[in-house]
Amino acid sequence: MSGDPIIVTGGAGFIGSHACKHLAAAGFLPVTVDNLSTGHADAVKWGPLEKLDVRDADALAAVIRKHGARSVMHFAAFAVVADSVHAPDLYYDNNVGGLAGVLAAMKATGVDRLVFSSSCASYGVPDTVPIDEETPQNPINPYGRTKFFGEHMIRDQAAAYGLRHVMLRYFNAAGADPEGELSERHDPETRLIPLALMAASGQGAPLKLFGTDYDTPDGTCIRDYIHVTDLAEAHLRALNHLLGGGDDLILNLGTGQGTSIRQVCDAIARVTGRDVPLVEAPRRAGDPPTLVADPSLARKRLGFAPRLSEIDRIVRDAAPHFGLMPKTHVDG
Ligand SMILES: NC(=O)c1ccc[n+]([C@@H]2O[C@H](COP(=O)([O-])OP(=O)(O)OC[C@H]3O[C@@H](n4cnc5c(N)ncnc54)[C@H](O)[C@@H]3O)[C@@H](O)[C@H]2O)c1
Repeated sequence: MSGDPIIVTGGAGFIGSHACKHLAAAGFLPVTVDNLSTGHADAVKWGPLEKLDVRDADALAAVIRKHGARSVMHFAAFAVVADSVHAPDLYYDNNVGGLAGVLAAMKATGVDRLVFSSSCASYGVPDTVPIDEETPQNPINPYGRTKFFGEHMIRDQAAAYGLRHVMLRYFNAAGADPEGELSERHDPETRLIPLALMAASGQGAPLKLFGTDYDTPDGTCIRDYIHVTDLAEAHLRALNHLLGGGDDLILNLGTGQGTSIRQVCDAIARVTGRDVPLVEAPRRAGDPPTLVADPSLARKRLGFAPRLSEIDRIVRDAAPHFGLMPKTHVDG
């Protein structure tokens, strides 16, 4: 294993592991720093795993020195909105405290390039869609606030110490490695497409439709799903932007296309031939009807455009991990 070492916190998790694969393919050496709280050691395949908690700034600084890394991608965080409402203390400790550890370790080692996982959850319930980066951030749950505060921590660190950064506000990460080497595995599973696939395969309960009376064409919530390998590509471009001396950026990562929950289920039926069993349930507090990105700034600044994020393609790549074989060919 060789190449310019990049510290990837959370590299054993869903998005971080896909980023590691992509970094390695581009000639970097991804050094995963992960405490395996929600990640999997067997997802770390393209570089070393340093098992530690990013809140331990001294241990993290020692790892940065050991590998001679000059850049960090910070994915490590808790990322389940509902859990953050029930245990906000754990979320602030892990997400804000974790970022504080990363920033302290970077300062101690003189490493000044950071790509940060922010979230569309930092916008809250926007007045208008699509959401561009100028949309006011009014997060409505503790998870979204940890990302909002994190962005401010990074800006303050940048102003004081010259930290160079790209903050990426992802919409809904979905899909899986097209070559089948990685997947989305959370326990318990909370994300829509895995839950829908588990329902369709009979491995899980019928999918709960939380709210069927939203002001959307079919009454269900609309989200902007972006393929995890497209996210990985955007991270690589963000890193190369910083390595090339580029300026600080805050960018949405989405497709600009909204897909309703019923449309996700239709895609699963189309691609796998299996219907998703559904039960209707009341709306959940704090679920905005529609969250769709205006993705134009990432295209303009990084030349980034999703290639794999059409919903049938996302389903095709995710389905085999839930025991469902795609029956149709999907281009892309
Ligand atoms: N999945 C999405 O749709 C989405 C959307 C927007 C933003 N994000 C952000 O992207 C990042 C990655 O999300 P994911 O879906 O891959 O989650 P994930 O849970 O699969 O991965 C997170 C990884 O971080 C590790 N980790 C957590 N706390 C740690 C700590 N204190 N020290 C060391 N390692 C720690 C976990 O073990 C895990 O491997 C998170 O920051 C999340 O908030 C995700």
